[in-house]
Amino acid sequence: MNLSGKRVLLGISGGIAAYKTPHLVRALLKQGAEVRVVMTAAAQRFVTPYTLEVLSRRPVYTDLFAPSEEFPVVHVGLAQWAEVVVLAPATAHLLARLANGLADDLLTTLMLGCTAPVLAAPSMEEHMLEHPLTQEHLQRLAGLGYQWIEAEAGELASGAVGRGRMAEPEAIAAQVEQHFAAGLDLAGMKVLVTAGPTLEDLDPVRFIGNRSSGKMGYALAARAHRRGARVWLVSGPTALTPPAGVELVAVRSTLQMQAAVEAVYPQVDAAILAAAVADYRPAQVAPQKLKRGTGNLVVELVENPDISAGLGRAKQAHQLLIGFAMETEDGLARAREKLQRKNCDLVVLNDLREEGAGFAVDTNIVTLVDPRGGAQRLPKMSKHQVADHILDWVVGHRPAAR
Ligand code: PMT
Repeated sequence: MNLSGKRVLLGISGGIAAYKTPHLVRALLKQGAEVRVVMTAAAQRFVTPYTLEVLSRRPVYTDLFAPSEEFPVVHVGLAQWAEVVVLAPATAHLLARLANGLADDLLTTLMLGCTAPVLAAPSMEEHMLEHPLTQEHLQRLAGLGYQWIEAEAGELASGAVGRGRMAEPEAIAAQVEQHFAAGLDLAGMKVLVTAGPTLEDLDPVRFIGNRSSGKMGYALAARAHRRGARVWLVSGPTALTPPAGVELVAVRSTLQMQAAVEAVYPQVDAAILAAAVADYRPAQVAPQKLKRGTGNLVVELVENPDISAGLGRAKQAHQLLIGFAMETEDGLARAREKLQRKNCDLVVLNDLREEGAGFAVDTNIVTLVDPRGGAQRLPKMSKHQVADHILDWVVGHRPAAR
């Protein structure tokens, strides 16, 4: 009974794989879970609410406006009740609606207000799964912390053979169990993450910046939160949606980032610095837009503080400090030099020359460099997976584990 007393909200959307959901409900109940089922209108064309009501021994929720004995406001009540949400099957249409923040039925409305972790089992024909828009939606939702129960290859509803078949109910139930078993290894920890670029203004119109999208730092914040940590995310300007449940401190310049980081740092157990921080700022910020017409423009730049080195100096015995090193040559040597100079416990090296590493992409290729001379190179993987490797290192090196 590995799910004993766990509150699992099962959201079913309208794909042929909905026929497997009665088995999924039984598998979850068999493990001791409490299950509430929410169905979209299309889902009810594949399997009846009555079947799921009998199996789950509970009313099945289908209507945003229908009165409920259990929850006075049904979408709010369900969103707060869930400890984990399982979306199975998650159709292309459901993923598109969720990725775009639509709230046009009970399931999508409750998902907007729900901070519980989400495990989603995509299910659709292979060409729909591979469509660039579906892929964009999957990536956007992954950025919000959605975890995928991967679609399998096999015979599809059309008779074609390909990828897109929903995982079997037992495999989905096993992933829910895994989530609860391994999920909260950072519980009780406080983690500070920096992300994105810092921008240094030249005048009210122009600034000096860099290409950081924030994806690496946001992935770290999302995964740390999902694994049970309290997370502060100090972020320069990005186009990303902050992960739910994380305390965002939005900044623009290096000096603002320094002030925000130094205010939070004394209370955290680990600081992970993924931001691409501007090392220089203009000596003067022109109060009005700089005009052309006087020949070349010479801008004097003054050095910004090294935020990480300041944290290294202030580090307490119980704290872990993890820096990044973004290099284009002599990566390992430079990472080792930064590790020492900034008094870091780990430096995560990424080399911008490698395809699939560094700025803006959804993947990274990193080497974990530690003070004992170790250098563990990881293969190319998603930034969320890289985040998990870094957090695994934190779990293995936090004071209780040392
Ligand atoms: O945001 P993405 O598009 O996902 O891209 C991810 C990333 C490439 C930005 C990220 O993986 C990364 O490498 N971040 C660190 C970028 C950087 O500034 O590296 P650096 O080698 O210049 O700095 C070393 C460390 O010192 C970093 O942890 C940095 O945050 C910190 N630093 C740097 C300068 C400064 N003035 N203060 C600092 O604290």
